[in-house]
Amino acid sequence: MQPKFRRGLWLGAGTAAAFLLLLTSAHTGQALSRSEVRRQSLALAALGKALFFDPSLSASGKMACSSCHDPGHGFGPANDLAVQLGGGDLQRPGLRAVPSLKYLQVVPSFTEHFFESEDEADESIDNGPTGGLTWDGRVDRGREQAKIPLLSDFEMGNKSEVEVGRHVLAAGYGNAIADIAGPNARKDPAMAFRTALKALEVFQQDYRAFYPYSSKYDAVLAGNAVLTPQEARGLELFNAPEKGNCASCHISERGNDGTPPQFTDYGLIAIGVPRNRDIPANRDPAFHDLGLCGPLRTDFLGREEYCGLFRTPTLRNVALRKVFFHNGGIHSLKDAVRFYVERETHPERWYSRKPDGSVDKYDDLPEEAKANINTDPPFDRKAGDEPALSPAEIDDVVAFLGTLTDGYEPPK
Ligand code: HEC
Ligand code: HEC
Repeated sequence: MQPKFRRGLWLGAGTAAAFLLLLTSAHTGQALSRSEVRRQSLALAALGKALFFDPSLSASGKMACSSCHDPGHGFGPANDLAVQLGGGDLQRPGLRAVPSLKYLQVVPSFTEHFFESEDEADESIDNGPTGGLTWDGRVDRGREQAKIPLLSDFEMGNKSEVEVGRHVLAAGYGNAIADIAGPNARKDPAMAFRTALKALEVFQQDYRAFYPYSSKYDAVLAGNAVLTPQEARGLELFNAPEKGNCASCHISERGNDGTPPQFTDYGLIAIGVPRNRDIPANRDPAFHDLGLCGPLRTDFLGREEYCGLFRTPTLRNVALRKVFFHNGGIHSLKDAVRFYVERETHPERWYSRKPDGSVDKYDDLPEEAKANINTDPPFDRKAGDEPALSPAEIDDVVAFLGTLTDGYEPPK
């Protein structure tokens, strides 16, 4: 089995989440002055922040964006549930683990063919599907993304865009909306809805909340802190191609343009995490969440070579999580790292068995999709080989990952 696409160093590209505020006056349609643009973006960010934390946007009146994306947990889930409960009665289980919302500002727009190389004119290496928001990259911008939970019957549970707009206006945001979109918006739920989406997008671009680069590792890169010996060993193991090889996908170095490391190359890859039987949808053996080829994403249904691919997440703030990978099936960071080095050497520790007693490797994928599994190191070993990392080395990598949590305060 060969991996379909090579992955290399991420060098920067157009961004998905980043927005270009091309604002025109809601009243006259004319381009705004710079100070007016600034005033509008501050107004949008303030509105977006209020909306993000406001449960009145949901059908139940009890679920805000922040219910799942908790600022105290890197805007990821505060609890250890693989999938959250939502909908009008807060009883409908979701299908995927809640990702962090931090460091999405430079996620490139989704593309099937991502070319990158040291030499920008050299377009010879196709890294395959890359970028986009959500685990399967199905939307590019924050405003499109926000529609998903607002209108999902297992998340915020609204039946229509107009219903969301009505909630926004009823919750007292009429003045703030009118200030941004003009006085008509106060009576126009569809316009209120669009303004709310824009505001949520702009709020999520606030670097102080979403990409402060305030981890210990950032302090180390700036020369203001040093890694402990264990953390330093962990970084080395994380980078070394013959050990963790983690940095081949979770890039640990600055970009050529000086951008701090994002700990992802945004590639969509099949790593074959075990099926999570705690997800109610998985009680149906015929149900498979196959990421890029559906069923949540619908433009590549039936594209077999895309089945099982999920977007590589950043590892910044990963130590704040209690559930890991798209299906939240792994519950400790140590186990997440252990999975990488044991997937091939000791698959029986991770996968269920078939009726005949043999190990059902990659048991969350239908047979046809198993060919898409990535076999880069540390996945290049075979059953019975030594894992690429010893138990002590796994602890070192986990210690290093702990340095990626924002809010580091240097000892005085
Ligand atoms: C019920 C829990 C829940 C609520 C409420 C919720 N989300 Fe999410 N969010 C998720 C899950 C689960 C995903 C992953 C979805 C997927 O991959 O299909 C996600 C993904 C995202 C992403 C993409 C992250 C990435 O890594 O690409 C963004 C941005 C986001 N949510 C913002 C919001 C905003 C804004 C709101 C409020 C309007 C919100 N979410 C409400 C659970 C939730
Ligand atoms: C071939 C690319 C690749 C390599 C190499 C790789 N990862 Fe990943 N990583 C991914 C992808 C893709 C995902 C998401 C997969 C999914 O959820 O199905 C992921 C997810 C994770 C997660 C879960 C994060 C979260 O928010 O749930 C952790 C932790 C992680 N990787 C750590 C590591 C470590 C440590 C190494 C080295 C031992 C490593 N990765 C090597 C591609 C890679």
